[in-house]
Amino acid sequence: MHPAPEILRAGYAELVCTDLERSRWFYVDVLGLIVTEENDEAIYLKGFDEFLHHSLILRRGPVAALAKLAFRVCSPDDVDKAELYFRELGSDVRRLPAGTTRGIGDAVFVHDPLGYPVEYFFDAEHTERMHQQYHRMPSNRLTRLDHFNITVPDVPEGQKYYSDLGFRLSESIEDDEHVYAAWYFRKPTTHDLALTSGDGPRLHHIAFSAAEREQILNTADILGAYESEHLIERGPGRHGVTNAFYLYLRDPDGHRIELYTSDYYTGDPDSPVIRWDVSNPRRRSWWGHDIRASWYEESSLVLDLDGNVVPTRHQVASERAAAIGADGFGIPAGPE
Ligand SMILES: [Fe+2]
Repeated sequence: MHPAPEILRAGYAELVCTDLERSRWFYVDVLGLIVTEENDEAIYLKGFDEFLHHSLILRRGPVAALAKLAFRVCSPDDVDKAELYFRELGSDVRRLPAGTTRGIGDAVFVHDPLGYPVEYFFDAEHTERMHQQYHRMPSNRLTRLDHFNITVPDVPEGQKYYSDLGFRLSESIEDDEHVYAAWYFRKPTTHDLALTSGDGPRLHHIAFSAAEREQILNTADILGAYESEHLIERGPGRHGVTNAFYLYLRDPDGHRIELYTSDYYTGDPDSPVIRWDVSNPRRRSWWGHDIRASWYEESSLVLDLDGNVVPTRHQVASERAAAIGADGFGIPAGPE
């Protein structure tokens, strides 16, 4: 078996948006992301700490969906390794010459065994890192892309796949019969990629980091000022898993975006794995409101390498069903 490419971190995502002007309002005016380039068909965005060309692409299209997840690998050689690795797995693999995606060098684009369109790249155009451009920063500034969370029908299947790719487990939600969710990392934080049980392959969310939770709360205020507070789906709150402070939003197409801060360092080789029982009500929210059904049940469609919607499979085990009682679902409204 060819060795797996050495992956550095979650690199960027590409979302298909049905109304690009409306999406620009959400990602630029509400979230405060920086536009590095744009044209009639696409907008390229990044956070204030980032120096690569983009960490998010919004592309105009007829069906709202995930068009691509991209991982940055550790060297140009790892792009070649990715091609050999995925060809041996029997995946649909395409070599993308430099510039096929604006700002991205030589890359390999794969329809991976879990059904996702994933690109592996190293070379990328640099842009100015704006971390000290305080006079240009909005009150809700975001620093960088943090992670992807994907909805998969069979979490253990996803765990084997990402373990084989060299990702390390930080935390999980499980019981004696099933694993309902798992968090995997390459960079030394709690995750670059999380697996959530649900009908899939689908995208659950993309998360951007803020330096402080005040910046996340300012986004909530800004949504209120635009009379768009209905786009807040969950939070603010504190996660049990990862210990991060969070706010979940839905963009105008329903793509879910998490604003995220203050998880912990995992870079030591013996960093302990934390396993949460699904019956523990503090696993998803250390504190915070009950989780809406939409958060468990809705996620974005996924496209193949030709832009066709990938069919989904029904989930093996539902965390929401397993957590009835723990999360407040299914409990009578009050005493008789
Ligand atoms: Fe997340």
